[in-house]
Amino acid sequence: MIDTQLLQPNTDGIDRAATLLQGGELVAIPTETVYGLAANALDGTAVASIFAAKDRPMDNPLIVHIGDLKDWTPLVTHIPDNALKLADAYWPGPLTIILPAAECIPTEVTGGLSTVAVRFPSHPIAQAVILRSGCPLAAPSANRSGSPSPTNAARVAEDMHGRIAAILDGGDCAVGVESTVVDLCHTPPRLLRPGGITPEMLEAVVGPIEIDPAVTHALQKGAVAASPGMKYKHYAPRAEVHIVKGSPAAYAEYVNAHAGNGVCALCFEEDVANLTTPAVTYGRREDALSQAQQLFDALRQLDEQGATTVYAACPTPSGVGLAVYNRLLRAAAFRVINTIRVVGLTGPTGAGKSTVASAWHKHGVPIIDTDQLARRAVEPGTECLQQLVQAFSPAILQSDGTLNRAKLAEIALADQDNAKKLNAITHPAILALTRQALEDAADSRHDMAVVDAPLLFEAEFDAICDEIVSVIAPYEQRKQRIMQRDGITDEVAQRRMDAQQEDAFYCREGVTVIHNNGDEDALIRAAEAVLSALISKEDAS
Ligand code: TXA
Ligand code: MG
Repeated sequence: MIDTQLLQPNTDGIDRAATLLQGGELVAIPTETVYGLAANALDGTAVASIFAAKDRPMDNPLIVHIGDLKDWTPLVTHIPDNALKLADAYWPGPLTIILPAAECIPTEVTGGLSTVAVRFPSHPIAQAVILRSGCPLAAPSANRSGSPSPTNAARVAEDMHGRIAAILDGGDCAVGVESTVVDLCHTPPRLLRPGGITPEMLEAVVGPIEIDPAVTHALQKGAVAASPGMKYKHYAPRAEVHIVKGSPAAYAEYVNAHAGNGVCALCFEEDVANLTTPAVTYGRREDALSQAQQLFDALRQLDEQGATTVYAACPTPSGVGLAVYNRLLRAAAFRVINTIRVVGLTGPTGAGKSTVASAWHKHGVPIIDTDQLARRAVEPGTECLQQLVQAFSPAILQSDGTLNRAKLAEIALADQDNAKKLNAITHPAILALTRQALEDAADSRHDMAVVDAPLLFEAEFDAICDEIVSVIAPYEQRKQRIMQRDGITDEVAQRRMDAQQEDAFYCREGVTVIHNNGDEDALIRAAEAVLSALISKEDAS
């Protein structure tokens, strides 16, 4: 056990920290994001001891911190234009830039990758320690691997007392979540970890960027992480955390209905009054900066309260809120409960379903178009397309690897078994994408989302719907409409319509039916009336 010194943020403390670092020791230092566990980045042995102190997997690379812009040059092979622009705009600050690593960077820092992550922190104490020690500092967050990052010196001591030479106390961290990580070895630049510098801020300087899918979704099985840190368990308190998505009222209702021993809410300040369970807050609902500042400490407070099950209110995942959401998702091991009310919208071709959907959309209701998802489900590289090729034959592919829809339709329509096989492959894939889209649509702004699905019943989407609305119209009217819309003959239109179900199929028990037998204005009025009824039903429940 090492005798860990607590250093004050004055000249003596900074000198002492610098001396320890020069001697190959570990010192926890404040930064504007979270506390870092620092070592001389050019000393492989010192860097290796960071991994031991944190119990961190050796393949997870570290960020190198500099105290002056000119100290960047020796660390990378070259600095491209967009890197200079980003540095100019946001350094010093909570942004980490990945570029090809120079020879001098030890493998302990890069985890064996050919690239290196560099950051110029804005915290004056961090800058002073780096400059005083005269070397760049490798510093991951100063927590034990898997725990929430520390945002004050006391939290560092909880994890690191007795394991490192010193902790330099710089008070509370201003940002509260780790830096934004952007990979510039990639075109377009790729966001690997959201933080205080938002995607919009990056795009304002370098144009369009790509957000790595792992930022908001669990890594797919077998996928290679763009950043090794994405693979590992993160920020987790001992309790099992679930994110509850939905309106403030739906959140409170869900949590109160699940109150019990060890159950605790992790919520916004405004929520507390509506909850019957113990609660730990992390900022205000519309204030992502306050959420970022408080999240990690709140996660640690939950452990102190002995919480075993935590229901967390969901931040709005944009701006700095994207960083908050990203950390909370990992703290929750991607467990998300969706309270959003799902309204299924269906009906035969030409009945006016799209008009209803767009009328609702105008009122701010998110619409999930399953026709669009059906196309996404079979894009090149999807498991679904692979299964189709296996089930039918590579003849269903075009030379560029995309699906030849006409060919597939021809095979599938040839006999009933083939049609069944096709549906058994595609429907679950579309359903999975629909569930994902519902999860993405659900945040604190929406109580309801609409799943627009012509084959709602056939593909068994009714199972995920709380309400179903069917739009039907007289045969003649539908025929005229699709002839006009699709530029087809009377005969083709009739054939298409006759291949579909009777009206009764759509008007089954429990379904709200919109009869579209007037003009478009009448249909829109009917759609709005149904929407109002759905909303007041929600308020009453
Ligand atoms: O705000 C911060 O960035 C804090 C403070 C102390 O500066 N540091 C921090 O470090 O969060 P750490 O080690 O906890 O997170 C570094 C992240 C990891 O997810 C790691 O996988 C990723 O950056 N990373 C580092 N080098 C990389 C590289 N060459 N390629 C891809 N990802 C890299
Ligand atoms: Mg970390």
